[in-house]
Amino acid sequence: MQLSVVILAAGQGKRMNSDLPKVLQPLAGKPLLQHVVGTARELAPSNIYVVYGHGGAQVQAALGDEPVEWILQADQLGTGHAVMQAMRVIPDDHTVLVLYGDVPLIRAACLTKLVAAAAGGTLALLTVNLDEAAGYGRIARGADGHVTGIVEHKDATPEQLRIREANSGLMAAPAGRLREWLLGLGRDNAQREYYLTDVVAGAVAAGDPVAAIPVAHAVEVLGVNDKVQLAQVEAGYRRERAEELMLAGATLADPSRIDVRGEVTVERDVFIDVNAVLIGRVHLGARVRVGPNCLIRDSSVGADTEINANCVIEDAVVAEKCRVGPFARLRPGTELARDAHIGNFVEVKNSQIGAHSKVNHLSYVGDATVGSHVNVGAGTITCNYDGANKWPTVIEDGAFVGSGSMLVAPVRIGANATIGAGSTISESTPDGKLTLTRARQTTIDGWRRPLKLDPLQKAAAIDEALASGAPPPKKP
Ligand code: UD1
Ligand code: CA
Repeated sequence: MQLSVVILAAGQGKRMNSDLPKVLQPLAGKPLLQHVVGTARELAPSNIYVVYGHGGAQVQAALGDEPVEWILQADQLGTGHAVMQAMRVIPDDHTVLVLYGDVPLIRAACLTKLVAAAAGGTLALLTVNLDEAAGYGRIARGADGHVTGIVEHKDATPEQLRIREANSGLMAAPAGRLREWLLGLGRDNAQREYYLTDVVAGAVAAGDPVAAIPVAHAVEVLGVNDKVQLAQVEAGYRRERAEELMLAGATLADPSRIDVRGEVTVERDVFIDVNAVLIGRVHLGARVRVGPNCLIRDSSVGADTEINANCVIEDAVVAEKCRVGPFARLRPGTELARDAHIGNFVEVKNSQIGAHSKVNHLSYVGDATVGSHVNVGAGTITCNYDGANKWPTVIEDGAFVGSGSMLVAPVRIGANATIGAGSTISESTPDGKLTLTRARQTTIDGWRRPLKLDPLQKAAAIDEALASGAPPPKKP
């Protein structure tokens, strides 16, 4: 049986009070709709149709790379009308799975069950038992317990509103039957819309079987109609990701204080302290420790590495047994080899730092290739930018760069070279030798510290100094 997935994404989302179309509202930094498309792809269907309308160009642009077919619903006349637009291109012998662009946490395993239940002409509805079902359609059942229809919240009687069995909106059905049920839809309801939910009454009238499949985890069918629900879905997503990490062997200091916005993989015995934000593709090797308040984006961290508190790591590759931070920033293109140490208030950009090398305090290393066993002293700067071009710095194995050195690129520091503290190095230095640039130290005999002037003396001194360039006089 061929599967066609239809994702409804044409609505405006009035309740969002936002200029952004509802299905583009971000969940974990990615549009709601993109989450749904991603899950649909896991089912390997023959087609994914996205019914779009409101904010059309914007929605299409945001989903640009996804392998979907776009179906325009020019006027948003309801969810039933939206599905009708897609049915024009879906053959009768397909199974149709309807997903909602605003129900983003649904999982493929649940959908597989729903699709299987649609075999043999059955309309399979995904339902959910909710204590608080406001806004959801309710599942109506006859005296014999069979489903007879779905009543929208706005059309429900007070008695029907007490029903806890709610419609998730997601359903699967054989295309040929669905087409026929859709033909029977009208707009005689509170919202004057073609409700997709009315296909249930259509199926019942035609004597077709209807199956209500309860969802295992209610969070999977949370719908996003306003910003409150958006936050609930974000929290649900966060909890799920945290649980995945824990099941994979990570210890989380507090599972409610980690934010995973991407595909994060961990090996055994990783420890993550509070307020970690992990974005994009992040891999943490075995026994990695991440201190509090770290942001890690699109990076991998090798086994036994320790990331201390308050680090920002983006597009970086950190090998095993490294030590980073606290307060370190690894910018894109940073590669740390085994046992490298990057200390506090150090910024590294587009640079390779060799094995066992240390940049421990207050330094900037940009566009540099640093060998192994190198020590870069506190406050060293690679002056990589001349105002027009960026230039490389090479520091060979075993070099020792004294504190406060300015390495004016392009420049090479030789293997085992020593740079005296406070040097400004603008020419490459030889291997194994001490190089320094430094004014000779002098001591001034008879020098006295300035004394405090009264305001008049001070004003006169300033006038004189600015006019003549002479130093301010000492108090007599
Ligand atoms: C819908 C269901 C309700 C269910 C709830 C679950 C109907 C009539 N009601 O209500 O039973 O409990 O979802 O979340 O189906 N859309 C279009 N074109 C339209 C209208 C909507 O593409 O003309 C899209 C929206 O962009 C959205 C989805 O369909 O992604 C659902 O629409 P929405 O208006 O949010 O329906 P609900 O009121 O939530
Ligand atoms: Ca909705």
